Amino acid sequence: MTARSCLSIILAAGEGTRMKSALPKVLHKIAGLPMVAHVAKAATEAGGGDLALVIGYGAEQMRESATTFAPGAETFVQGERLGTAHAVLSARPALTRGYDDILVMFGDTPLIDPEALLQARERLAEGAAVVVLGFRTDKPTGYGRLIERSGALQAIREEKDCTDEERKITFCNSGLMAISGRHALALLDAVRNDNAKGEYYLTDIVEIGREAGLQIVATEASFENALGINNRAELAQAETIWQDRKRREVMLSGVTMLAPETVFFSHDTLIEPDVLIEPNVYFGTGVTVASGAIIHAFSHIEGASIGPRAEIGPFARLRPGTDLREKAKVGNFCEIKKATVEVGAKVNHLTYIGDARVGAGANIGAGTITCNYDGYSKFFTDIGAGAFIGSNSSLVAPISIGERAYVASGSVVTESVPDDALAFGRARQKILPDKARELRERRASAAKK
Ligand code: UD1
Ligand code: CA
Repeated sequence: MTARSCLSIILAAGEGTRMKSALPKVLHKIAGLPMVAHVAKAATEAGGGDLALVIGYGAEQMRESATTFAPGAETFVQGERLGTAHAVLSARPALTRGYDDILVMFGDTPLIDPEALLQARERLAEGAAVVVLGFRTDKPTGYGRLIERSGALQAIREEKDCTDEERKITFCNSGLMAISGRHALALLDAVRNDNAKGEYYLTDIVEIGREAGLQIVATEASFENALGINNRAELAQAETIWQDRKRREVMLSGVTMLAPETVFFSHDTLIEPDVLIEPNVYFGTGVTVASGAIIHAFSHIEGASIGPRAEIGPFARLRPGTDLREKAKVGNFCEIKKATVEVGAKVNHLTYIGDARVGAGANIGAGTITCNYDGYSKFFTDIGAGAFIGSNSSLVAPISIGERAYVASGSVVTESVPDDALAFGRARQKILPDKARELRERRASAAKK
């Protein structure tokens, strides 16, 4: 079936005023990925062929963002927003190239399922000219209604153009359409704007096609697949649905979560089987977790790789560039940034490790800080395998601590320490016998006066 050529057009020219945002609506994120990128991903997964993006509001920002999420996409600017049919026709240069299938998707419908796209294309292959993806909801307000007569789709009526009777219909338009490439331009060019909003409605091609005797089909998707995002409450609703799906997928792939509803994933989180995740864990983008790792409660992880049987938290913060190797341990109230913690090394308590390497089996004492920044530049700290850093030490970078070296607790280390050396970086302790008693007596008599 995929032998048929396909053009996927994503409409994303709108501002999305109800988001009340400087950012174009479709660039708002779900699971760390812009909504429109979710749509592009679904199109790609469904073998959607060439990708055309119709932009308008915030065109520069949209173009720039597209270079990351859809580098191969052609962009078309819709100068004036005159409606969804007009938006599709902005991609006329692509449409005239001639495709078997045209998929039209909305950039604000991010949970669309690639499977539904494939099914719609199958109906085209079977001879349909237009396939509309409908869904049922008991709150149809705002959606176009699918008007059927004896089971056949006759028309789509926008909310504002509905009669009271039609407004009661609960079968709605998701916005996703598959159109036969052979008929697409003729259908779209026939659309007029004589309706309540004075817009060129894409949905009108249903009635136009029906009158021309073409085969017009409605298929049904779940409400979740069709959810259109117009405001931030709906954005949060889509996030919830996405997270629920992902949690289920992660658990079924062999990961244990004690309270899955408190764990948040990113669109690209990769977790191997036999990982244990305790409650209240947040994954930002770019995280991979290898088999056997344990993530204790309240950890925040972003741009990090967690190696096999590594263990982090509770309350660990892993920032971008963190690379924990096999059986490495990062304990409570530790922050790691742009650093490698090699096999079996331990960073267990109240520590900041940034721009550093912690060698295999090294032990970093409580309260150790790599002083990596002088207000202008960042500097590197290299800690050799088997080194021991005593509690409450400051390692002033650039600096290296040799293999098996020992840094006394409370040191401020400003010079590199050779292998096997012991370094003290603090004042020698003094004992003044009876001085405490004298001091106390002096203070007490002074207070009496
Ligand atoms: C549209 C559908 C409606 C459907 C609903 C599903 C039409 C006429 N109506 O209504 O049947 O139930 O979506 O969510 O198609 N856009 C442009 N250029 C334009 C107009 C819109 O690019 O000139 C883009 C928007 O950025 C958005 C998408 O098309 O991504 C949908 O537009 P929107 O105005 O949100 O349509 P709805 O009124 O929600
Ligand atoms: Ca909408």
